Amino acid sequence: MSEPLPFLDPNLDLAAEILRLKRERDAVLLAHYYQLDEIQDLADHLGDSLQLAQAASKTTARVICFAGVHFMAETAKILNPDRTVIVPDLTAGCSLDEGCPVEAFRAWRAKYPDAVAVTYINCSAAVKAESDYICTSSNAARIVAAIPRDKQILFAPDRNLARHVMKVTGRELVVWQSSCVVHETFSERRIIALKERHKDAVLIAHPECEEPVLRLAEFIGSTTALISHVVNSAHATFIVATEPGVLHQMRKLAPGKTLLAAPPQDETCSCSECSYMKKNTLEKLYLCLRDLAPQVDVPEPIRSRARIPIDRMLALS
Ligand code: 13P
Ligand code: SF4
Repeated sequence: MSEPLPFLDPNLDLAAEILRLKRERDAVLLAHYYQLDEIQDLADHLGDSLQLAQAASKTTARVICFAGVHFMAETAKILNPDRTVIVPDLTAGCSLDEGCPVEAFRAWRAKYPDAVAVTYINCSAAVKAESDYICTSSNAARIVAAIPRDKQILFAPDRNLARHVMKVTGRELVVWQSSCVVHETFSERRIIALKERHKDAVLIAHPECEEPVLRLAEFIGSTTALISHVVNSAHATFIVATEPGVLHQMRKLAPGKTLLAAPPQDETCSCSECSYMKKNTLEKLYLCLRDLAPQVDVPEPIRSRARIPIDRMLALS
């Protein structure tokens, strides 16, 4: 549960205050594309998981303010143990992280003593510490392809990304069975119906989507890759199967294109929005910069051990 917010003067210009506090605190604001539009607009670095990890590995700011979910801020702390890492809401998690507890992961690994474990960045620091390589949606295939062919590979926790990587690389993976509650909601039937109504529309999808949706996609990629595809493709109309936060940058960078959010199975819900990402608000962002709290910490020796597979990923990216 998130803490109740303290009273804030309704006349406060939150955006201006956030910019002022960033300067005063020597803070860099990293934001993911699934954040609210008004948070994206204030970011120093906006990107997908890999780009944000790369920005965290390079920043010289004293404070890293991470507008994303917990595993992303944890990664920034693992890379910067001497900096202060703050988040708007410490309870902003991820269903993939929740679906992969470290004890169960360790027991699973132990069944395959000779295998290499490639783990999606959407997991806890403790699971990272038990892994050989970390990957993101933009480099998973490249990292798997870099591992010698005679090595057995374990892939956790996202089974949909794993299936996509197997298809792209032709490698067999031993797969952890977890998934993203957001990307699972897209409806193949309703996407086909939408395509019927918009004959010129093409589907683009994040690899966390399920197989029937990915099969319909003309392009599959990370959030950054999806945005670039909309900008660079000759097509004019896109059905976008990922969290609708990405539409903000797509609209900015490709104003002439028509963008349709892929529909979820339940017509009445807004379940294609990531409720974890959307826990972060402008108010909470202001408060975390004002109070330098809540802070993210990763205890030793987990931090040092988790850093090894993250560094391997960054070296291969
Ligand atoms: P990206 O790698 O595109 O940032 O995806 C992260 C994520 O959490 C998708 O749900
Ligand atoms: Fe996790 Fe899915 Fe939200 Fe991404 S969209 S942070 S994978 S729950």
